[in-house]
Amino acid sequence: MNLALEELGISQSLLDARGFIAQEEARELAIVEIGEDGREFMLTPTTGAAWHSMKNAAQEDGVALVMVSAFRSIQRQAEIVRSKLDDGLQITEILTVVAPPGYSEHHTGRAIDIGSDEDTPELEIEFETTVAFAWLTRHAGTFGFFMSYPQGNSSGYQYEPWHWCFKEPST
Ligand code: DAL
Ligand code: ZN
Repeated sequence: MNLALEELGISQSLLDARGFIAQEEARELAIVEIGEDGREFMLTPTTGAAWHSMKNAAQEDGVALVMVSAFRSIQRQAEIVRSKLDDGLQITEILTVVAPPGYSEHHTGRAIDIGSDEDTPELEIEFETTVAFAWLTRHAGTFGFFMSYPQGNSSGYQYEPWHWCFKEPST
């Protein structure tokens, strides 16, 4: 049992019960965007190219796709879980909105949390009311992006209309 997980109160039986799938950290990452605050967003090179194509196509349709989150290290994921524990939340509750360290699609550099330019809070279910979400629902698959956590998803996470993952085409 991984000590970092144990320290966060994430036992093997909890992992087994939820059937989480381990995700490796990306070996190759490229900076694909720099946020207004100077934050660097990184993705695998293939995912970054697909993101740019998708974003440009949306823009041509008059729709803004905004990058909110991209690659996250296992260590960063642990910090996120730790800060929620420090806020007094229970681990079972936390794991309905945050993946255990080592199990987030964000580690792979293929997952992106997407926002819009509308007056809608980021990373909230209301994202599904935006034009950006409607556009993604219709077109994202063409660019290789799929919504990982729809309503009632088998991963046991809450509905995340903002979280889209690039699937590398099989060769
Ligand atoms: N919010 C998703 C489940 C993650 O932490 O990867
Ligand atoms: Zn996400």
